[in-house]
Amino acid sequence: MSALPPLPAAGAFGAGVLETLAGMPDPARAACADAFERDLSGVFDGRYAVAVNSGTAALHAALFAAGIRPGDEVLLPALTVVMTAAPVVQLGAIPVFVDSDPATLDVDYADAAAKVTARTRAIVPVHLWGRMGDPAALAAFSSRHGLAVVEDAAQAAGTSRAGIAAGTSGAAGCFSMKDGKILWSGEGGFVVTGDAHLAARARAFRGHWLTPPPGDRPQQQLAVNARLAEPLAALAHANLRRLPALLERRRAQNTYLLRALAGAPGLTPIRPATDETWNHYSPLLSIGLARPRAFAEHLAQRGVPNSTGTFHLIPCDTRPMFAGGTLPPCRGAAQILERTLAVVLTDRDDEAVLDRYAAAITHTSAEWSG
Ligand SMILES: Cc1ncc(COP(=O)(O)O)c(C=O)c1O
Repeated sequence: MSALPPLPAAGAFGAGVLETLAGMPDPARAACADAFERDLSGVFDGRYAVAVNSGTAALHAALFAAGIRPGDEVLLPALTVVMTAAPVVQLGAIPVFVDSDPATLDVDYADAAAKVTARTRAIVPVHLWGRMGDPAALAAFSSRHGLAVVEDAAQAAGTSRAGIAAGTSGAAGCFSMKDGKILWSGEGGFVVTGDAHLAARARAFRGHWLTPPPGDRPQQQLAVNARLAEPLAALAHANLRRLPALLERRRAQNTYLLRALAGAPGLTPIRPATDETWNHYSPLLSIGLARPRAFAEHLAQRGVPNSTGTFHLIPCDTRPMFAGGTLPPCRGAAQILERTLAVVLTDRDDEAVLDRYAAAITHTSAEWSG
């Protein structure tokens, strides 16, 4: 089997971080975060970029900046982590969970349309596992209902579909740089937007409105401190420079693992859409075995980290803080999570790690189907 492409040298990676540390403390400036934002803007075709301290904060700032207020309803897929819903609730708005189509993993727009009310203001599509839904269907739906689109692209750096990069389909795109993301900085995140006013409001929001948007006075709004710390901005900046190499490595890891699993009974790779350039965030397999969630949990115990077995991913509408509402459970989302093995990778996972995962998965699937 072919070897993986090597990771860029750690020395080059560390130099920017050391330089940043040497310039600290400097409370008046955020030179590294500013430089990171400038380069991000280049990566996203000149859009505005606002660096923050987490993906959750990116969603919080973007939803606030897009005008979400107490009592507004926000549509979001049940097929997501709780971090997508938390900022909606923090703003006093109401998350309304919509289903997903098991055939495509995309939003079930018929279900979404049935849940639109006079109070619905926005939709937050989530590109879980880096997989992006159809941007044309999203645009048609959001314009038909007059909704703002704030994308949860936390896992989707590097994905595009029909030539549209994840995070650039609507009013704003929100990314996470938590360790494990392809573009990582330990903790961190950013908002990308083509709207200067939204960018200025998100920037004000992340820093207690100390730097207000044009025409506003400082500290006129209650906001949060969600600034990205300089050492983490340095990590993010170094990783942004090697993003093409990180994406290439993740693609190669994915191909390597799926090839090694070709003979594993009951497992079928889930492929991206034909017009999708997927970032290969997680190797994805459909589990055609009895008790699929137990299978994923068993693999987690055998040292194969995965979304459902290790991180207990369940449909967000069934979490205790959201369960018990009047809407029926999102069955498509439940089916997807029940049947999907999403292996969690980092760029450090080399052939030895992937061979170990492949052996454990093959062995377990043979046992399970026997
Ligand atoms: C889909 C999704 N949304 C939001 C988040 C929140 O990002 P963070 O952990 O950086 O706050 C994450 C990351 O965990 C995520 O995977």
